[in-house]
Amino acid sequence: MKLVLMGLPGAGKGTQAEKIVEKYHIPHISTGDMFRQAMKDETELGLEAKSYMDKGDLVPDEVTNGIVRERLAQDDAKNGFLLDGFPRTVAQAEELERILSDFGTELDAVINIDVPKESLMKRLTGRWICPTCGRTYHELYNPPKVAGKCDVDGSELYQREDDKKETVENRLNVNLKQTKPLLDFYTKTGKLHSINGEQEINKVFLDVDQILASF
Ligand code: AP5
Ligand code: MG
Repeated sequence: MKLVLMGLPGAGKGTQAEKIVEKYHIPHISTGDMFRQAMKDETELGLEAKSYMDKGDLVPDEVTNGIVRERLAQDDAKNGFLLDGFPRTVAQAEELERILSDFGTELDAVINIDVPKESLMKRLTGRWICPTCGRTYHELYNPPKVAGKCDVDGSELYQREDDKKETVENRLNVNLKQTKPLLDFYTKTGKLHSINGEQEINKVFLDVDQILASF
């Protein structure tokens, strides 16, 4: 299964990705996670990405396209993958078509998790993440069993640097601008499925899974 998961910041891409990869055993490829790992490792890519991410801006297409091409060329992505947060611009979507065509394959489906902008600020400012396993929580909507600790490994949860209110505002605006043209692009391919992301997390997954079950 070769999938793209789209949605504004906080729509629930990472939350649904956890469930999809657990059920379908395909690699989860999140460009945001790759950039955060590079920042942690203080690589050249990480330093470059940081200057954009800290402001809530998009990392330039040439950089992002390059790391995705490299990642999709790896063996574990041959039989399927879940792209989370890529593509985000029409230029990235066009490059993804070229990459997959070079590898003799194509996408099966693009799933757009639709949540109105008004709900997203609350989701992002209340998000907590496990530094060890990457699991995502929310202080109101998906709280851990013990406050501040991961249910799975007990690690101390943290908040993302770019989840500060001022940065979130810019992230939402930047992403909103790109969304409509990207949705138009994928509507034309006939592969776009939109899901109501303003339902309980497990209900959103039922809707996602209903689409995936047909592949
Ligand atoms: P990235 O890490 O992809 O961030 P994002 O797109 O802003 O999305 P988020 O990860 O914040 O949200 P999500 O949709 O995964 O939501 P989550 O499941 O965590 O990218 C970060 C940055 O990297 C970008 O700003 C950019 O600079 C750069 N970048 C990345 N990709 C790029 C690209 N392709 N091109 C250029 N630059 C790129 O959920 C959020 C919260 O809500 C959680 O607390 C969760 O528990 C809760 N929640 C989830 N679902 C529900 C629900 N149904 N009901 C209630 N609460 C819910
Ligand atoms: Mg995410």
